[in-house]
Amino acid sequence: MKYHIVTYGCQMNLHESEKIAGILKEAGYGENSSIEEADIIVFNTCCIRENAENHAFGNIGALKKQKRENPNLLIAVGGCMVQEEGKAKLLKEKFPFIDILFGTHNLPELKSLIERKRAQRKSVISVTEARERTEDGISPVRTSYPNAWVNITYGCNNFCSYCIVPYVRGRECSRRAEDILAEAEALIRAGYKEITLLGQNVDSYHCEGVDFPELLERVAQIEGKFRLRFMTSHPKDFSERLVAVMKKYDKICKHLHLPVQSGSNRILGLMNRRYTREKYLSEIALLKREIPDCEVTTDLIVAFPTETEEDFQDTLALVEEADFSSAFTFIFSPRTGTKAATMEGRIPEDVAKDRITRLIALVNAKTREKSAKYVGKTIEILCEDYDEKKGLYLGRDEYGRMGYFESERDRRGEFVNLKITSANGISLYGELD
Ligand code: SAH
Ligand code: SF4
Ligand code: F3S
Repeated sequence: MKYHIVTYGCQMNLHESEKIAGILKEAGYGENSSIEEADIIVFNTCCIRENAENHAFGNIGALKKQKRENPNLLIAVGGCMVQEEGKAKLLKEKFPFIDILFGTHNLPELKSLIERKRAQRKSVISVTEARERTEDGISPVRTSYPNAWVNITYGCNNFCSYCIVPYVRGRECSRRAEDILAEAEALIRAGYKEITLLGQNVDSYHCEGVDFPELLERVAQIEGKFRLRFMTSHPKDFSERLVAVMKKYDKICKHLHLPVQSGSNRILGLMNRRYTREKYLSEIALLKREIPDCEVTTDLIVAFPTETEEDFQDTLALVEEADFSSAFTFIFSPRTGTKAATMEGRIPEDVAKDRITRLIALVNAKTREKSAKYVGKTIEILCEDYDEKKGLYLGRDEYGRMGYFESERDRRGEFVNLKITSANGISLYGELD
């Protein structure tokens, strides 16, 4: 029997989908297939912004015909959107053909939910309150070779005023360092070349006296050639010790994803981010002083309630000063249940669009500027994939830059040296050296 998984959202969800695949395998669905050929289709949803939800709604709705033509097909919907208050009910009403709905805290039960559904006509819904989650005992079917995702924390306690994650993922809990190390060691032994430690806020990792810098150091001490990444960091928890560990180990990629969200102190306060632009910029300055070649990427939100043109100018100025190598940019999306959703001073759509257009132009100009500096240099790329359309292999350097190249043979999983001959936006093109 075959399965197909549709994933929305962040790296956390991508890895969760690998776990879903692991559960499906145990439930007898051995083979990944196209959506048309699948015996079970699982949607792993996201609700971080309204458009993420709209995507899922559209794609689930499009399955009505396939389900009618093939009543044996099972359709399951899980992930963050299902965990949102009232959403499971709404989904069921809108799409009565959904067979299984499971919340983020119910993933480990998925196999038994499938078995229950197979034994009854009625659909199965399991969305419960958060429970302590550390070891879920699920063996993922990994799809991101040569990278492997490793969870270090689940959930989030930060309650940034715009963000729904703490409501749908529950309180933060950290996995035991021994379990994380054992998983990472096994992955390196199995041939993975990159480990990415995952948490909503990795810096607040703490378990049995081990904090994040110590955990990172212990993973970096695992023998073998591999790259070590981590995400996401939070500026309020940034520490000199973290920088010291990053500096000490070549294996740790000299790249920090440090979401700043806004350059205006007033807006940062309303966002409940608990740092100022000055603190943020001083962290970047420290990082670049200690590790001059370190690259920083970020997330930015425009049009947060009450954001003025002046606040927005503060964001643009911060982008100039912080010298990001790239950034994800978002328009504020009100999420029911969060504090910001009830704040006054919503920004009209045309103003929001104008701001994001200007921000993207600045971010892209910065990215292009940095890309141009690569031309003529030789960089080490970890080959990740083959791009059929371009007919080129691709991979990233330690800073996260994508590099494309031609090769006679399959290079996936190999470290290669690439002499950069041209740059286009964030992508680099080169020749094997
Ligand atoms: N835990 C991570 C990732 C959170 S989600 C972190 O704290 O950085 C990824 C990004 O989505 C956030 O950094 C933020 O920029 C954006 N985001 C979250 N909620 C949003 C909302 N309601 N509207 C617009 N963007 C949002
Ligand atoms: Fe959301 Fe803030 Fe937690 Fe990130 S740190 S997941 S933005 S509440
Ligand atoms: Fe990730 Fe979206 Fe959930 S960003 S944690 S999948 S709401």
